[in-house]
Parts: sequence; C-alpha cells; structure tokens
Amino acid sequence: MVKKNACVFISGRGSNLKNLIQRSRDYNFPIKICLVVCNNRNAKGINYAKKNSIPFVLVDSKFNNFDNKILYLLKKYKISLICLAGYMKIISKKFINKFNKKIINIHPSLLPKFKGLNTYSKILKNNEKKTGCSVHFVTEKLDSGNIIVQKSFFIEKNDDENNLRFKTQKLEYLAYPQAIINIYRYNY
Ligand code: GAR
Repeated sequence: MVKKNACVFISGRGSNLKNLIQRSRDYNFPIKICLVVCNNRNAKGINYAKKNSIPFVLVDSKFNNFDNKILYLLKKYKISLICLAGYMKIISKKFINKFNKKIINIHPSLLPKFKGLNTYSKILKNNEKKTGCSVHFVTEKLDSGNIIVQKSFFIEKNDDENNLRFKTQKLEYLAYPQAIINIYRYNY
C-alpha cells in the first residue's frame, strides 16, 4: 500500500507519538511518520523519534520565523497529514491556511465539552458521569473542528486526575489510529 507521509507535533511525553509509530509499522496502516516537530527541548517524546530514526526538529514556537521554517520542512518531506499529539501551543491561523492539507488533534475530553487546558480537573469539578477522548480536525477555533472519532468510559467514584489521565490515554491509543484509518479509508 502507498502510505501518506505524516508529521507529528509534540511538546511532552510523546506516548501518542510512540503508539502512532508502532501502528504505522503495519503494512495496512495508511501513514508513515516522516517528521516529528517538537517545541520543548526537554520533551521525553523526542527520544521516540531518535530511537526510530525519524527526522525531528526542535523549534522555539516564539521564534518569529516559526511558521515559515516548519512549512518549508513539511514541503521538503511531502507531508500530507499533521497529527498534533500533546502539542501545547496554538497553531496560528496563517499556518492553518498555508498548510492547506489535513491537520488533526487529540484532546482528552468528549468535545465540545472541556476545551482548552486543565481538562481533567474541570471534568472532576463538574461531576461528569462520563468522559473520554476526541480526535478532531483543527480549525482556527480552539478544539472546535469536526470530530472524527470519540471514545468514552464511565467515571468511577474514586477516580482522581491521575486515574482519569490513565484511562483516557488508554482510549487515545485506540482512537488516534482509528481516526487516521477513517480519514484515508472512508474519505473523511
Ligand atoms: C494527550 O492525552 C492529549 O490528549 C493531550 O495531551 C496528552 C499528550 O500525551 N492533549 C491536550 O491536552 C491538548 N489540548 P502524550 O505526550 O503522552 O501523547
């Protein structure tokens, strides 16, 4: 199968990156990860790029020429899908418009609920019965593009932020690959 070239943007632990790298080894998985972009030089996730010999770039997103530098690399590596995976920086409107291919993101809530930061504490404060994760297209409005896949679970009495993160991320490792399959197999 001819795989599409994808790039993953990270800022931290990179467990979704690790999972996507593993999944992309399947012959039938629609993407190949050709580039990793990271805006935090202390991010553990960079090690997954190194270990798997995937080109990576460390950039300071405050750097003026950030958009142009990344757009140049996306072109160089013929990237047709950007997967945001724990990338804690808002993508500029200019960037979204200039990269006129697909950008998707994973968020640890059942969107449209609990957009933005501190998701788990907001969920607990709100006494939600259910939570989960969402993979969605990235638009100019934060965490608001069309949803591709959502997975959910019931919150238990003793769940704290750590438990919620653990349970949510277990679902993320299923939801993100599923969303990518949906995009290419079912033309989302
Ligand atoms: C993921 O749980 C993702 O949903 C969340 O960051 C985590 C990154 O984990 N993203 C956001 O909160 C975006 N607003 P990882 O670095 O281990 O993949």
